[in-house]
Amino acid sequence: MIRLDKYLADMGAGTRQEVKKYIRQGKVYVDGSKVTKPEFKVEPNEQEVSLDGDKICYEEFEYYMLYKPAGYVSATQDKKEKTVLELIKEKKRKDLFPAGRLDKDTEGLLLITNDGELAHRLLSPRKHVDKVYYAKIQGMVDERDIRIFAEGMDIGEGERAKPSRLCILSSGEISEIELTIQEGKYHQVKRMFESVGKKVLYLKRLSMGSLWLDKSLKPGEYRKLTNEELNELC
Ligand code: URA
Repeated sequence: MIRLDKYLADMGAGTRQEVKKYIRQGKVYVDGSKVTKPEFKVEPNEQEVSLDGDKICYEEFEYYMLYKPAGYVSATQDKKEKTVLELIKEKKRKDLFPAGRLDKDTEGLLLITNDGELAHRLLSPRKHVDKVYYAKIQGMVDERDIRIFAEGMDIGEGERAKPSRLCILSSGEISEIELTIQEGKYHQVKRMFESVGKKVLYLKRLSMGSLWLDKSLKPGEYRKLTNEELNELC
């Protein structure tokens, strides 16, 4: 059970101080009865809470699929840069964070949630969750690169990338590839290509585990995960 003021503040009804005031003013009802004590305990999902006549359902966790656009940093707050959290307008909870980082210039799938356990499961290299990236690469990507990526490689600063699956979609002055990795080291995809003498011109994440970027989303758009997507991920 949780305190009524916490219930309301968690659901974005106001700051803790503001919701305490609403409760004391008699604006809040639990199961149809007025409650004026902020410390009153409620059972989320079993009891009905309303503020000014509007029902407020409790959600312990929120899950959003964001098509991260370039130009945003994967952080909850930043003094100078725009953050991915600013793109999620309807969020209720204040403890949301991006599950994993994409570079400022990288686009694509980013899960925004407050479910730390799920984030850990998706991101820990020990869990071997596939992350698929699409990239445009300056230069001709060839069979030799596929072999090097498949064996695992030194990516500098004493780090090695584990074996990964490189698939060439088109090869030329600018090549297009899909790369599947199970890790998320700093600038990993860019460093992997650098170590074979090539430069990533454009990078987009397509998937994390069973979760694929919804093709109907445009950069900057997001939606809640469906129950099916969530069940598969969990
Ligand atoms: N690899 C990178 O180099 N950058 C990203 O944003 C993600 C993976």
